[in-house]
Amino acid sequence: MGSLLESEGYEVLLAGDGRAAHDIAIERPVDLVLSDVRMPELDGMALLERLMQLAPQTPVIMMTAYGTVDTAVDAMRMGAWDYLLKPVQFDDLLLKIKRALDYSEITRDRQILTDQLAEDSTFHNVVSESPIMLRLFEQVRKLSTVKSNVLLSGASGTGKELFARAVHYNGITRAKPFVPINCGGIPSALINSELFGHRRGSFTGAVKDKIGYFEVANGGTVFLDEISSLPLDVQSILLRVLEDRLVIPVGDTHPRPIDVRVIAASNVDLDAMVARGEFREDLLYRLNVVHLTLPTLAERKCDIPLLTHHFITKFTRQMNKDAVGVTNGAMRSLISHQWRGNVRELQNVIERAIIFVEGNMIRVD
Ligand SMILES: Nc1ncnc2c1ncn2[C@@H]1O[C@H](COP(=O)(O)OP(=O)(O)OP(=O)(O)O)[C@@H](O)[C@H]1O
Ligand SMILES: [Mg+2]
Repeated sequence: MGSLLESEGYEVLLAGDGRAAHDIAIERPVDLVLSDVRMPELDGMALLERLMQLAPQTPVIMMTAYGTVDTAVDAMRMGAWDYLLKPVQFDDLLLKIKRALDYSEITRDRQILTDQLAEDSTFHNVVSESPIMLRLFEQVRKLSTVKSNVLLSGASGTGKELFARAVHYNGITRAKPFVPINCGGIPSALINSELFGHRRGSFTGAVKDKIGYFEVANGGTVFLDEISSLPLDVQSILLRVLEDRLVIPVGDTHPRPIDVRVIAASNVDLDAMVARGEFREDLLYRLNVVHLTLPTLAERKCDIPLLTHHFITKFTRQMNKDAVGVTNGAMRSLISHQWRGNVRELQNVIERAIIFVEGNMIRVD
């Protein structure tokens, strides 16, 4: 395993047992620890406990034998970053190492460490191992150095907002505002002034000057959720804003320069709307510089066990409950379910299960 990792470009320090590993960790900082559970001298759990005191920022990945998932759960509760079941699949190992290292690079960044929102929004929250999603991660990574507009499509609950945040917080915009706007949630008469601002007295109710969301987001990202619900007249204004990089607040005559990236999301087919004359084609081109399509959960069933465990960990921690597992029968029915509400529905089901669970296993009910 050591030489395989070296061939991937990692510097590997081998330790014969837990004590030797502990000695290395005292001597020099390491970026990641990969540890067996059963070891002579100092076993994996004892090592983990010491590492948590010595270097709590260092991610520890525990390797446990198949059938000892309980140990894995214990390790996670003690602060392990992740676990691998033996026999270890090398692809799986690489993926988990990469994810752990990406995460610790992020936590090393003070600015982000202090920004809980950013913390919640970076990649480690986007759980997936399916090839379609990994390709999307790769695309997001490529976007990290540019401020191109992005269009996200996908059914409800597939993670569009999560991806929008990942694009923002993984990129050069991360220190600037991320401003989410639900276009469907603003009365159409107010959209223009909400987005671009207004001057006092420009309409009944405009009692003072107001800065629009685009100006609030200056330098960063505006996330236009449900872009399909923008009325055509506002679509025209938005197009002009994107072309001229200027906003003119309602009732004002002075344009103001802005520099924002737009990430738009839609769960309806915008091409079809264009064909029906309900969405401006030129605006679609502007938004659609990069197009990411999120798969439904049914298209990536292989992620269901992973997401299930992710949400179990999340909710047991949140509710301060003991770790629980899932019976094989329950997992089978989770995998075969249709999931029309996609990841959000799965998340809700697990949340409910954790609230009502009796004993330490989630069963079919
Ligand atoms: N791959 C994932 N890993 C972990 N959590 C996820 C993943 N995808 C989605 N979620 C979670 O599922 C929920 C729904 O995701 P999100 O709000 O991003 O979906 P959406 O596509 O914007 O849905 P809608 O169209 O209904 O607004 C969120 O709580 C999000 O954190
Ligand atoms: Mg959404």
